[in-house]
Amino acid sequence: MSNIVLIGFMGSGKTTVGIRLSYLLRRTFLDTDKLAEKEMGMTISEAFATKGEPYFRDTETSVLKKLIENEDNKIIATGGGLPMRAENAALLKELGMVFYLKASPETIFERTKHDTKRPLLQNDHPLQTIRDLMEERGPKYENAAQYIIEVDRKDFKTVLSEIEKIVREEKS
Ligand code: S3P
Repeated sequence: MSNIVLIGFMGSGKTTVGIRLSYLLRRTFLDTDKLAEKEMGMTISEAFATKGEPYFRDTETSVLKKLIENEDNKIIATGGGLPMRAENAALLKELGMVFYLKASPETIFERTKHDTKRPLLQNDHPLQTIRDLMEERGPKYENAAQYIIEVDRKDFKTVLSEIEKIVREEKS
């Protein structure tokens, strides 16, 4: 399948890069967080609070399976925790070309410090939470990805053109 799939930690730029990439390549943009919210009939914060995280994670897997069935040639941004399940990592490869937007904990912290919509970071020590999660998640992102794009200290234009170059080379 030739979807372009963006994975990475919260705040790594998947949605921003994905939307811009969709304009550039004239492809539809989809976001697994939005699709999961639609399927659950509530926001992610509400789902974590009322149904618990496993319910949200099961929904993510279900969303991924539906995307594989129904979508092609799309740009797909994924929730930061989605590639953590081995099952999902395998499904991602079926879905398309997988790009990992790799950012340091400090970059992530700067970009997410005012956010209130990410339940995992709503605590008194978010930078430490990010560091701990990143240590655990980093190798899994790398395993799930075909391409690793470093995003620290790069503007979106640079990140975008790196991805665009790879996509065009793959096609030719
Ligand atoms: C999560 C990342 C979020 C969202 C949920 C859990 C995670 O998506 O899926 O809050 O576990 O990293 P973004 O990466 O789009 O913020």
